[in-house]
Amino acid sequence: MKTIKFGIIGCGLMGREFASAAARWCHLLQPSARPEIVAICDKNTDLFDWYRHNFPLIAMLTTDYKELLANDSVEAIYCAVPHSLHKEIYIDVIRAGKHLLGEKPFGIDKEANKAILNEIEKHPNILVRSSSEFPFFPGAQRVFQVIKKNEFGKIIEVNAGFLHSSDINPNKAINWKRLIDINGEYGCLGDLGLHVLHLPLRVGWMPVRVHAQLSNLITKRPDGKSNMVDCETWDNAILNCDVETEDGQAFPMTLKTFRIAPGEIDTWYIKIKGTRKSISYSTKYPKTLMTMDYEPGAPQEWRREDLGYETVFPCITGSIFEFGFTDAILQMWAAFVEELTTSCPGKFGCATPEETQLSHVVFTAALESHRDKKVVGTLPSSVGNMMGYPDEKQD
Ligand SMILES: NC(=O)c1ccc[n+]([C@@H]2O[C@H](COP(=O)([O-])OP(=O)(O)OC[C@H]3O[C@@H](n4cnc5c(N)ncnc54)[C@H](O)[C@@H]3O)[C@@H](O)[C@H]2O)c1
Repeated sequence: MKTIKFGIIGCGLMGREFASAAARWCHLLQPSARPEIVAICDKNTDLFDWYRHNFPLIAMLTTDYKELLANDSVEAIYCAVPHSLHKEIYIDVIRAGKHLLGEKPFGIDKEANKAILNEIEKHPNILVRSSSEFPFFPGAQRVFQVIKKNEFGKIIEVNAGFLHSSDINPNKAINWKRLIDINGEYGCLGDLGLHVLHLPLRVGWMPVRVHAQLSNLITKRPDGKSNMVDCETWDNAILNCDVETEDGQAFPMTLKTFRIAPGEIDTWYIKIKGTRKSISYSTKYPKTLMTMDYEPGAPQEWRREDLGYETVFPCITGSIFEFGFTDAILQMWAAFVEELTTSCPGKFGCATPEETQLSHVVFTAALESHRDKKVVGTLPSSVGNMMGYPDEKQD
C-alpha cells in the first residue's frame, strides 16, 4: 500500500489525535494509502517523549517548523497550532509544496483566511483541507443523505450547534484559547463555528443575513500565578440566520456555539424541521437518530432508530457496534488521505478552504451584528463561485 509521509506541526491535544489515528490505520478496510509520521515539530519539547515512545519511525523532532518544511521526505503536514499562527505557518507549508490538513478556524480572522486562500490559489496541485470531524458521525451522515434527497417538504427551521461546558468553571486558569491576541476576536465562534457550519455549507445553506448575540460570561480568570486577569473572548454565541437556497427555499437557521452550556460536553447537533419530514441528530445520544414523516391527518410521531457503525470509509468494526469521537477523527483522516490518492468521487470529504472562507464571512458578520446591534448581510445564497471574498466581488 502507498505510504504518505507526514509531518506534524503542533504536537498538543490535536497533534496526538492524528498520531493515534495514524497508529490504528489497520482499522480501515482497503484504504488506498496510509500515513506515516516521520517528522514532528513543537516549541514544547516535553511533548516529544510520547511521540518518541509510540512512533519509533519519527526521524525528525524539531522546535523549528521551517526545518521540518525543508525536509524533503515530508509530503504532507497536519498543522494544529494556536490561531494566531495559522496564517504564517499554513502559507509556509503550502509554499514548501506540502499538502496540508490545517485546523479551524483556518486563520485567526477574515484577513488571515484570505491570505491563506490566496496562497492556495497559487498552488493548485497542493491539497489543502480543514479539520472538522463531527459530520463523519453516522448520524450526521444520515442527516446529510436525507438533505440530499430533499424530502422535507417546506423547510420550517434548522437548528445546529456545538455545546461545551469546558469554561463553566470560573476557577479554570486562562490559556491561549481565552486570549484575543492568540485565539482571535471570534472567541467561541472561531473555536466551534466551523464544526457547526461544515454540514450546512456543504449542502448550500449559506446564511445570507445574520443577527448575533454574543456573551462574555466570565470576564476574569486566574492566570495560574495567583492573579486574576481579563478574559475577553466570547464564551457563547447565538446566530439567528436567514438561509435562501438555490431551489427557492427560505428558512431561519439558528447556530449556537457555547463554551458555557451547563450539562454539555462536546455536544454537536443538527435538527431540521420540515412540513413533510423532520430529522434530528445529536452526539449527546450518539447512536440515536430521530425522524418524523408527516402525512396530512396522520399522527405526528418521532421515530427513534439506533445507529450502528455505518461509516463513510469502511472499517473492521461490525455494524452492530457504536461510533465515537476518535472514530470520527479516523474517518476525517481517511477522507483526507483518500482525497490525496484518489478523487474520492461521491464521498463526504473534509471541510474545504472555500467552506472556511464562508465561515469567516459569517463570523465577521456576527461580530459586526453584535457590535452594532443590527442584522448583517453576508453573501448571495449561492455557494458556487466561492474563491474570492464577496466584498471583492461587489463592484
Ligand atoms: N478538530 C477539533 O476537534 C479540534 C479540537 C481542539 C482544537 N482544535 C484546533 O487545533 C489547533 C490546536 O489546538 P490544540 O487544542 O491542539 O492546542 P494545544 O495548545 O494543545 O496544541 C498547540 C501546540 O502548538 C504548539 N506551538 C505553539 N507555537 C508553535 C510554533 N511556533 N511551532 C510549533 N509548535 C507550536 C504548542 O506548544 C502546542 O503544543 C487550533 O487551531 C484549534 O482550534 C481542533
